[in-house]
Amino acid sequence: MKRIEIRDLYKRYKDYDGKTITLCGWARTVRDSKNIGFIELNDGNFKSCQIVVEREKLSNYEEIVKQNVGASFEVKGKLIVTPNAKQPFEVNADEVVVLGESATDYPLQKKGHTVEFLRSIPTIRARGNLFNAVFKIRSSAAFAIHRFFQDRNFVYLNTPIITSSDCEGAGQMFQVTTLDLDRVAKEGKVDYSKDFFGRKVAMTVSGQLHEEPITHAFGKTYTFGPTFRAENSNTTRHAAEFWMMEPEICFCDLDGLMDIEEEMVKYIINYIFEHCPDELLFLNNIVDKGLIERLKNVKDNDFVRLDYTEAIKMLEKVKDRFEFPVYWGVDLQSEHERYLTEQVYKKPVFLMNYPTEIKAFYMRQNDDGKTVAAVDLLVPGIGELCGGSQREERYDKLVARMNELGMKVEEYKYYTDLRRYGTNIHSGFGLGFERMVMYLTGIANIRDVELYPRTVGSLMY
Ligand code: 4AD
Ligand code: MG
Repeated sequence: MKRIEIRDLYKRYKDYDGKTITLCGWARTVRDSKNIGFIELNDGNFKSCQIVVEREKLSNYEEIVKQNVGASFEVKGKLIVTPNAKQPFEVNADEVVVLGESATDYPLQKKGHTVEFLRSIPTIRARGNLFNAVFKIRSSAAFAIHRFFQDRNFVYLNTPIITSSDCEGAGQMFQVTTLDLDRVAKEGKVDYSKDFFGRKVAMTVSGQLHEEPITHAFGKTYTFGPTFRAENSNTTRHAAEFWMMEPEICFCDLDGLMDIEEEMVKYIINYIFEHCPDELLFLNNIVDKGLIERLKNVKDNDFVRLDYTEAIKMLEKVKDRFEFPVYWGVDLQSEHERYLTEQVYKKPVFLMNYPTEIKAFYMRQNDDGKTVAAVDLLVPGIGELCGGSQREERYDKLVARMNELGMKVEEYKYYTDLRRYGTNIHSGFGLGFERMVMYLTGIANIRDVELYPRTVGSLMY
């Protein structure tokens, strides 16, 4: 079967004018006006192709036009350029083979379903324009990230998924065990030495602690993989399983880190403008009329760099607007973050130097004794897109902080030892990949940028 992809036809249909070609795909619509019929054929690329079928040319005309939406076809026919029509070309069929019928219960019979309904059919929803566009952009954004870091000499690392370390220290891990829980319940105690690894383990919340030591072998690295958090946050921005991309850079301080973050976000946006223009335009029309304008604005302007302490002063002035209280030391709520990015600056904001108490143990302690060199990248519509920091490179300070937090320091020796073997100022951040895809597509719910979303209380298949 030597077929041409519809995407390629759109690039060079004039070369094919009058030529016979073969297409394969699925019907988005099938219409019959007695002696002439039309199939909107889609082969997985964003744009479809109109197939014209004529009763007098095709002996199986009846079989063709009675097919349901979702049926698959092989079409051989002549490409005709149609300068005055909505689509620039169509294919007049000489031969149509029905490859696979589609049952009458095919869930996408008509257009215009709600996203909530589409969420209930994750195996099918990407066959419609909306999710096709979203997952295409997701794929391209992943590639853009790899290209950005590979071009800059970063080494891609695959850190483990099963781990004994709680990187963020928030205790929000999914435990992994082969112990028989019914038996454990009957016996009333757990003996982890009998568990698969002979110790208590869980799914990773971040690859960072495993990555950092290896960064010291290469200088610049990144991870990009699945991440798991048993957060009881039923929001539009939290998933229990999501993808995180974590670059880590030696000999780099907080300013250097922000430079890379800003350059990366702009690079990804540029890449999507270049490689997914049809998808972006569609999303701009259907999902979010301000999408293209907003993304252009982001890629063409500098991000704001603001101290947490300054931000609190600004928020305190308008504290009556917020549901949650504002004071120095508070972990900002999304309403606070959104106020800064959407109302005050109307663009991405790096918020820096957070109170030590609300950030993870590994962040570098500032000289003021109460803040750490952390940076969150906040963006309009989403809130926190990236979280990162300069790392505490001083052994004594790191261990003292871990002790303060009651951590089992000896279990993290592999990590603290780095500070004994050629320590240096180094920094890294984590990009929530789904949040990046939401930002690029205007999609408001994280459940609609993951193929099979896993959120608290909900898992299909
Ligand atoms: O800010 P977080 O917790 O940072 C870390 O895990 C660091 N170890 C990263 C690093 O410095 N290498 O998470 C990083 C990003 C967040 O900014 C957010 O975008 C995303 O991961 N994220 C989530 N995305 C979807 N669902 C969740 N439950 C998420 N939790 C965090
Ligand atoms: Mg964070």
